[in-house]
Amino acid sequence: MIRLGVNIDHVATLRQARKGRTPDPVEAALVCEKAGCHSIVCHLREDRRHIQDRDVFLLKEMVKTRLNLEMAASEPIIKIALQVMPHQVTLVPEKREELTTEGGLDVAGQYSRLINVVNSFKSKNIDVSLFIEPEEKQIQAAHQLQVNSVEFHTGRYAEAEDDVGMAYEFNRLSQAAELALSIGLKVFAGHGLDYLNVRPICRLPGIEELNIGYSIISRAVFSGLEQAVRDMLSLIRLYEKKDT
Ligand code: PXP
Repeated sequence: MIRLGVNIDHVATLRQARKGRTPDPVEAALVCEKAGCHSIVCHLREDRRHIQDRDVFLLKEMVKTRLNLEMAASEPIIKIALQVMPHQVTLVPEKREELTTEGGLDVAGQYSRLINVVNSFKSKNIDVSLFIEPEEKQIQAAHQLQVNSVEFHTGRYAEAEDDVGMAYEFNRLSQAAELALSIGLKVFAGHGLDYLNVRPICRLPGIEELNIGYSIISRAVFSGLEQAVRDMLSLIRLYEKKDT
């Protein structure tokens, strides 16, 4: 059964537009949990454009499922993460000028720096996931770091311009999932997934967790958040079945 992690960053984006108190991402997290999601995901960015420190500490207190903190492997954020003690951290690359996370983490290129970061979380029993491109070099480096899982960046798949491009990217994801599974890594995926393109992704070999934010929060404007999460969960349940 594939798990759904809901990323609530964009509830905070809306709040920050007025720098007020609403909508509160903590309240959103509780609604997502009521709808049946399996974890809450948030990204404490260095520029604090959406999620704030207060949110992360409160989320850890309030979330009843699991808190997955997405973060850059930077010293100040690592310090906060070790105080918050989320159930899982997902290490992502971060550039200040980007609109959202662009591309996966270069694990192979930053191996010696990441080893200390990964070990500092693992020594506190925090699961570590690495957000990577579906590439052999990155998967092997993640394996050497002995992390729990890899989250494949589905952005290129989601942004493919036509069916041919989408099939090509899906194939890359599929092969990467096979390789990761064969060397004992858990396989997660996320970024740019919506109510249509998520369907084939539910059939990726061994896929255990999908982390989805933007499309769910967007749909919530029209349907309400609880319904938007329920709709995504129903789709996942339908398409993960082998015979549909
Ligand atoms: N997974 C990771 C590692 C991400 O960085 C993001 C974006 O914050 C997501 C999943 C969710 O992406 P989206 O908001 O496009 O669904």
